[in-house]
Parts: sequence; structure tokens; C-alpha cells
Amino acid sequence: PRVYVPRDSAARSVGADEVAERIAVSAAGVEVVRTGSRGMLWLEPLVEVETAAGRVGYGPVAPEDVDGLIASGMLSGGGDSLGLVEELPWMKRQQRLTFQRVGVVDPLSTADYVAHGGTRGLLAALAMPPADVVETVVDSGLRGRGGAGFPTGIKWRTVLGAEADLKFVCCNADEGDSGTYADRMLIEGDPFTLIEGMTIAAYAVGAAEGYVYLRSEYPDAVATLKDAIERARDEGWLGPDILGSGFGFDLHVRVGAGAYICGEETSMLESLEGKRGMVRAKPPIPALEGLFGRPTVVNNVLSLATVPIILADGAAHYTAHGTGRSRGTSVFQLGGNVARGGIVETAFGITLGELVNDFGGGTSSGRPVRAVQVGGPLGAYLPVEQFDLPMDYEAFAAAGAMVGHGGIVVFDETVDMAAMARFAFEFCAAESCGKCTPCRVGAVRGVETIDRIVSGTDRAKNLVVLEDLCELMTDGSLCAMGGLTPMPVRSAVRHFGEDFHA
Ligand code: NAI
Ligand code: SF4
Repeated sequence: PRVYVPRDSAARSVGADEVAERIAVSAAGVEVVRTGSRGMLWLEPLVEVETAAGRVGYGPVAPEDVDGLIASGMLSGGGDSLGLVEELPWMKRQQRLTFQRVGVVDPLSTADYVAHGGTRGLLAALAMPPADVVETVVDSGLRGRGGAGFPTGIKWRTVLGAEADLKFVCCNADEGDSGTYADRMLIEGDPFTLIEGMTIAAYAVGAAEGYVYLRSEYPDAVATLKDAIERARDEGWLGPDILGSGFGFDLHVRVGAGAYICGEETSMLESLEGKRGMVRAKPPIPALEGLFGRPTVVNNVLSLATVPIILADGAAHYTAHGTGRSRGTSVFQLGGNVARGGIVETAFGITLGELVNDFGGGTSSGRPVRAVQVGGPLGAYLPVEQFDLPMDYEAFAAAGAMVGHGGIVVFDETVDMAAMARFAFEFCAAESCGKCTPCRVGAVRGVETIDRIVSGTDRAKNLVVLEDLCELMTDGSLCAMGGLTPMPVRSAVRHFGEDFHA
């Protein structure tokens, strides 16, 4: 029999390597396949056993549980199991398109990749003129999954139309938002999908070279991706003549040094060029003048990793999912004080409450949920009264919030929202690149202003100052760092005003 144990770093952090070793020692003759994680983090290490009916799950498994599980029939799917993994309610309610292979395949097996539909998208793209590939992505309605939600196909159209001797495709894998880890899990669990998506992007816009800007905090992802790139070259999926098409493209990994601002696209380009990560003024947009001044596609991991399935199954299949102008699926990440944290890929339109309560099971502390921050440290804090809000770019914007990169961090009733608002300014002060005054100075003044409000010093006057400062930072900052810091602050004041009157 085959037994699957994740090699994802979240699973490794709770002992997956030791579990895999123990199975290999205790069950001679069994093939242990290391996969990505299914994203049910509370069940890690999750061991899966292949049976005629499908994969049967066991978890969380500790190394000392292994011998007992084997004795009770685990290797034939018996004993104290969770049942079929695909039938677990958490999995069954999801629509996995971008994450279809994550947790299923051996991330570094090219044979496994092809057997599970890999390269279909690339082959379909190479059979079309580049402009048709761009239009397919436009028609799919795919929007930038890094957070801003700009239509991916429109961005590609701009790069395709730009005249240049050299163009680039850059993948932003500097996943800096607190509570987000989908980029990491995709790279660790199915790296060929990202490589395939970048290759399709390169073909579509006429780029010859690509870079993945990956954060140093993700050493497993760095190692997996580098290994996958070597293997992709061996298969002819990268290189001077991709799959006999005559089209050439190659890919390199660059590791960031831990600055949040290097996730901002122009800072990332500066960093890729070997400079300090300072934000560039836009225009010019990177699509016209990006890396080394050349037209550059800059997309997030999830945007690029969604492209292969769009090309493989067609734009109509993708747009069939979703709501309003938010088409397709999104990969939501549940974290913080939540009973069941992990990856939920569903069509847009699912409500915040369904994600937090039905998938997440409420808080891990067992106390009532008080606030949920959606979209990273610059996202809004929402109260439970807003749990009917559908996950949809426009609906969130109308509510003064943002979907962002899909991170959802849960807090229980013990949270001090004035402290969270203060933290937003502190974070901005620490991570600001310092180029513009509203952000560099405003963040520091923001911390001081909240301290005055909480200590009761001229509270009414300082609440006005705080709102004034938020308006200035929103309107006057050069990039989203300073421009979005007011979002968590304002939402905290608006929905949890009582905490500012301690
Ligand atoms: P933006 O709205 O300025 O731009 C979005 C993208 O569209 C950029 O790549 C831009 O170059 C491109 N673009 C704009 N006009 C274009 C045109 N006419 N043709 C072609 N391309 C065009 O937003 P920005 O500053 O890039 O991102 C802000 C977002 O980043 C926030 O909303 C936040 O959700 C997200 N964010 C994500 C983080 C993460 O860890 N994933 C961390 C921090 C923020
Ligand atoms: Fe730099 Fe902040 Fe200005 Fe962005 S808003 S350019 S991070 S100082």
C-alpha cells in the first residue's frame, strides 16, 4: 500500500517528518509518499492511506501513535480513521481549482504532475497565438490575487502591447500579510503549477525571463521551488525550446531579506535589481517600465498558479464560479484564534460567517468571536454583525474593507481593539520605506494619538486628529502601505468605539 504524509512546513512543524520516518521503519514494504498539505491544519500531521475506495485519513498522528495505528489495520484503511479525506465536510464543500493538486501529489514528481492534469494548460496555450492566450485570461475574469484585484488579463494585454527587446515575468511570492500562507502552501505542495503559469504568462506577453521573489522566511518553499525548476528544465517545460514549440523561457528564484514593503511591486523590482527596497512612484506602471526598465508582468503566486487551469479547461469553466465581478474561486486562509485553521478554496460569494463558523468552527479558545481581520495587517476589522458579507471585492470595498490576499484572522471577546489600532500604526512605522511623509511621519503620530485617546488626554479632540490623520495618510501616501494603514484603524474606531474609551 501507499501511505501519504505531508512535507509541507506547517505539517513538519508539528512532527510530520518523524511520523513519516516511523511509518517507514514500522511498516517495511510500504511506500511513503511525501505530499503537500490538504490545508486542514488542525489535523496535521494528517496521514492518508490509499485504498480501493480512495484515500483514508488519520490525524493528527503523533510518532508514538504509529505502531498502534498499524496494529489496528491502518495500512488497509482500517482502525480509528477520519474516513475518506475527500468526503470530509471541510474538503467536500470546497471547489479546488488553483489548489486541485495540493496535498494530493508528490510536489516534485513530474510524472505525478502530468498524471493529475499538469501541462494541459501550457500545451493549450502554446497551440494558440499569444494574443488569444491573453484574451482567454481576460475572459476568465481572473483578478490579481495578491490583493488589489486588478484584472490579470488586462495587465498582460498592456505588456503584450509594449514594444521592447526584452520583457520579464515576475512572481511576487513575498507573502508578507499576517495570517496568509496560501502562496507558501502552493509552492511547497504543487510548484510545477506556478512554473507552468509563469511560462504561459511569458508566452502570452513575449517574455524571455522570469523571476520568483520569494521571502527568506520560507526556506522549505525556496528549496522545493529550486528543485522543481531543475526538474522542469529536464522535462523541457523550461528552457530554449519549451515542449518543442520553439518558444524559450527560463526562471530564477531570488530570496528577499524580510522587508514587508518588498511585497509592494515596485519595491520588489528594486530589490530584484539588487537595490534597497524603496517604492517607486507610479506611473510608469511596471507593465510598461518594470524590471530593469523593461515591460514586466508582476503577478502574485495565486494569480499565476490559477492560469494553467483556465487555459486547460477554458475561460467559461472558470467564470462559471463566483459572484458579480469577482469571478472564479479564491483561496481563503483561516488563522488566529480559530478552532479549525487552514485553507478554504471556494467560489467568491461565500459569506465571512460561513468561513469563520462553518469551516473554522468559531474560536479555539471557545469564547465568542468578537472581531475578524480580513486581508492582512492593512485590512479592516469586522464585527460579527457583518458576517453576512459575501467574499467579493466590491462588497468588501463598499463595507470599508478589503478581501486582499484572502487572509482571515479571528479574535475572541478578550481582544482590545484600541491596541489593535495602535498596532496598525506601529507596524506601519516599522515597515515604512520612508519615502513619503504621510506614511513615514503619520505612522508615528498615529501611535502617539491613540495613546492620548486611550489615556483620556483630550479624547474628543484627539479622535478628530486621528480621523484627520487617517484621511491624510489614505489620500497622500505614495503606496498601499501608508495608504491602507488607516483601514484597520478606522474600522476599529467605527465598529469597536467603546474600546477607545477605556
Ligand atoms: P494597485 O491597485 O496600485 O495595482 C494593482 C496592480 O495593477 C499593479 O500590479 C499595477 O501595476 C497594475 N495596474 C494598474 N493599472 C494598470 C494598467 N492600466 N495596466 C496594467 N497594469 C495596471 O495596487 P497595489 O499597490 O499593487 O496593491 C495593493 C494591494 O496589495 C492592497 O489592496 C493589498 O490587498 C495588497 N497587499 C498584499 C500583501 C500580500 O502579502 N499579498 C501585502 C500588502 C498588501
Ligand atoms: Fe514608503 Fe510608506 Fe510612502 Fe509607501 S506609503 S512609499 S511605504 S513611505
